[in-house]
Amino acid sequence: KYRTMELAEMESRIRDIKGKLGEKLFIPCHHYQKDEVVQFADSIGDSLQLAQVAAANNKAEHIVFCGVHFMAETADMLTTDKQTVYLPDMRAGCSMADMADIYQTEEAWVQLQEIFGDTIIPLTYVNSTAAIKAFTGRNGGACVTSSNAKKMVKWAFTQKERLFFLPDQHLGRNTAFELGIPLEQMAVWNPITGKLEFEGNVEDIKVILWKGHCSVHQGFTVENVREVREKYPEMTIIVHPECCREVVEVSDMNGSTKFIVDTINAAPAGSSWAIGTEMNLVKRIIAEHPDKTIISLNENMCPCLTMNRIDLPHLLWALEIIENGEEGNVIKVDEAITKEAVLSLDRMLSL
Ligand code: 13P
Ligand code: SF4
Repeated sequence: KYRTMELAEMESRIRDIKGKLGEKLFIPCHHYQKDEVVQFADSIGDSLQLAQVAAANNKAEHIVFCGVHFMAETADMLTTDKQTVYLPDMRAGCSMADMADIYQTEEAWVQLQEIFGDTIIPLTYVNSTAAIKAFTGRNGGACVTSSNAKKMVKWAFTQKERLFFLPDQHLGRNTAFELGIPLEQMAVWNPITGKLEFEGNVEDIKVILWKGHCSVHQGFTVENVREVREKYPEMTIIVHPECCREVVEVSDMNGSTKFIVDTINAAPAGSSWAIGTEMNLVKRIIAEHPDKTIISLNENMCPCLTMNRIDLPHLLWALEIIENGEEGNVIKVDEAITKEAVLSLDRMLSL
């Protein structure tokens, strides 16, 4: 039915339902969502901010999460039993989160304990399944996001000698390196071969990185940076730490989605920037700052395809499910998993 509906009609239906449900409805929206969805957001933020607003909201009965599956799971785990979380399109996953499943993780943990004994603590990027957050919680570890990664890595080293960072090797490597840990003291856990990849001495290893990545951010290359430097030598290059080490090294600044948004907001008129992050956000930043020259670090980059699955028809569909009192698109994490996963989320949120 949505295929034949005019855009304006869908927008007006969404406005009507929002108006009718009032405070019973809450729509958190990640920065990487499309503009057509962002216009209806009650709160826009990065992963950490959205986890915090979900935890703080105890009014809304219905939380329609415009982001990806792991974010909706986190929102469900941090809200009360009286609140229901919906994902407008159940296919909106995250390829990075899918790179670490719980069976591979448990197997890795057994092997790492054999090598390192009880000297390791897991540190899990929120871009992961609830089951992996639960694994982290029951093993004394914590969650981390790109905006608190340094703080959380420092905390992890107050607990144990070594850390097991999953599933994004790049955020783990970039964060640890900036805290002074040399690359030789980092190893990579390959979940496909079930082996640890490293050069140097195993006893010197301080950080074990899961071999996962973000398909969007890993797409930025050193060649992209070189081309921008050649064409626009005056530009400041700012990238997300999910980009690989080599790209971060040749860029001028790196930081979380929030850091990028805040940096451009605070930049003086007339300044010029090349941004290495998701395209929907870069396009929005360009539109919001006509007084600055802003480009994407790679103009041919695709947006995050799974974030993009949430569109106007899917948002309206989820809202109509609520309006009609039907059941569908609900994200409900198993109780036992929630209990342990919340331990790892709480350790992060309390810091
Ligand atoms: P942040 O929102 O923590 O910057 O993470 C980026 C991301 O890739 C979200 O999926
Ligand atoms: Fe996952 Fe990367 Fe998309 Fe974020 S941008 S949802 S990490 S694939």
